[in-house]
Order: sequence, then structure tokens, then C-alpha cells
Amino acid sequence: MNIAIDGPAGAGKSTVAQKVAGRLEFVYIDTGSMYRALAWAVLHNGVPVDDEQAVSDLLQNNTIELQRVNSVQRVLWNGRDITEEIRTPEVSQYASIVASYGSVRRQMLVLQRKMAEQGNVVMDGRDIGTHVLPDAEVKIFLTASIRERAERRLKELLAKGHVTDLETLEAEIAERDKRDMERDVAPLRQAEDAVLVDTTGLSIDQVVDRILQICELNG
Ligand code: DC
Repeated sequence: MNIAIDGPAGAGKSTVAQKVAGRLEFVYIDTGSMYRALAWAVLHNGVPVDDEQAVSDLLQNNTIELQRVNSVQRVLWNGRDITEEIRTPEVSQYASIVASYGSVRRQMLVLQRKMAEQGNVVMDGRDIGTHVLPDAEVKIFLTASIRERAERRLKELLAKGHVTDLETLEAEIAERDKRDMERDVAPLRQAEDAVLVDTTGLSIDQVVDRILQICELNG
């Protein structure tokens, strides 16, 4: 059984998907971290982000690996651990740009399908239910109000020592949502057979329980 969890930035996908995977003893795959790794490499190598060919070549000629260390997913670019470095607001914006390129998405799709080949994965992203794993047995579309998503992001960033405020984050999230939903290739949208779960006002455990119930019904 494979589980696809899609939704906009800050809906709680990674926290929830990780917990669901833990409860079911499935492998958790955070596909957003792969776009982030590429965005990090674009910044790190001074590749012009508006040059699709150059960005796509960068992905083609280097490696992204996801590893599990003490039940935490680590992200490696050519073997270098960049797990922490990919969580900055700058990388977030760049990730959304590189994710809009068809040539990048085609390569990511191949990598991600290979990761899910053995089954029993919980994969989260934007296009998992619609493109990457269209045959996933369970598809969830996780969402929450922009205000609540910005509040969650603010807490995370402040805890890591970043300086920002709620209005800035709301604007950034709205901008990313717009770019993710309006891009031509594999835009963010709910698959027809996905179950919508609105997490506004729900605790993480409530959301996890709801998804496990849905898995029981569909699995
Ligand atoms: O989930 P995240 O914030 O880590 O994702 C970073 C960016 O990558 C986000 O702007 C959208 C993009 N993304 C995507 O287009 N498709 C995916 N399957 C996962 C992420």
C-alpha cells in the first residue's frame, strides 16, 4: 500500500506524514526536500534560477539522496548532508521556482517513483496523488487557512533563530501557493479520488488519527 499526501505549504504535511509512516512502519519520503536540495544547489553554485536548462542540467549531473538516520530523513547532495541548510525562506522561494520547470519535474518523477517501487511508503508533496503515484491506495489532500499556516511557520522559524513576522510569512505563503497552483506542469491540486482534510484548529495527533482511519477504510 502507498499513501500520497499533498497540499499547500505549511499545511502540516511533513509532520503528519512522518507520524503516519511511523505508526504504520512505512517509509516516509518528503519530495519537497528534493526540490529544496536542487534550489540550494542553484544558490550554492551561482546558477541563474531563471535558466531552466541550466537548472535541469544541474539536477541531471548531480545526485540527491534521502537517507533515514535515527528515524529522521536526511537530504544529501552529492553525498553532502544539507538537511538543515534547505529550510531557509530563500531556499523555499527558489524551490518553488525550480519546481515550476517541466524538465526538472520529469527527472524528479523518475527518482520518486523509483523510491516508492517497493511499496509501503508515505510520500508527501504537491503532485503525488495526481502524477507521481496516481495508483496510491490512499490519497489525502491536507490544507489549512493561510493565517494558521503562517502562524505555524512563524513558530518553526523563530525556534530556529530566523527573524521574520506573520505578515511577511502570510505574503510569502500566498505567493508560493499561487506559483504552485498556477504553474503549467503538475500544478498543486487535489486529485479527484483524494480525501480533503482541513487541519485548521486540529492538533497533529487529531490529523494523524483521521488519516489512519482513512487508511483503514481504504487499505
Ligand atoms: O513542501 P515544501 O515546502 O518543502 O516544498 C518546497 C517546494 O517544492 C514547494 O514550493 C513546491 C515544490 N514541490 C512540488 O512542486 N512538488 C512536490 N511534489 C513537492 C514540492
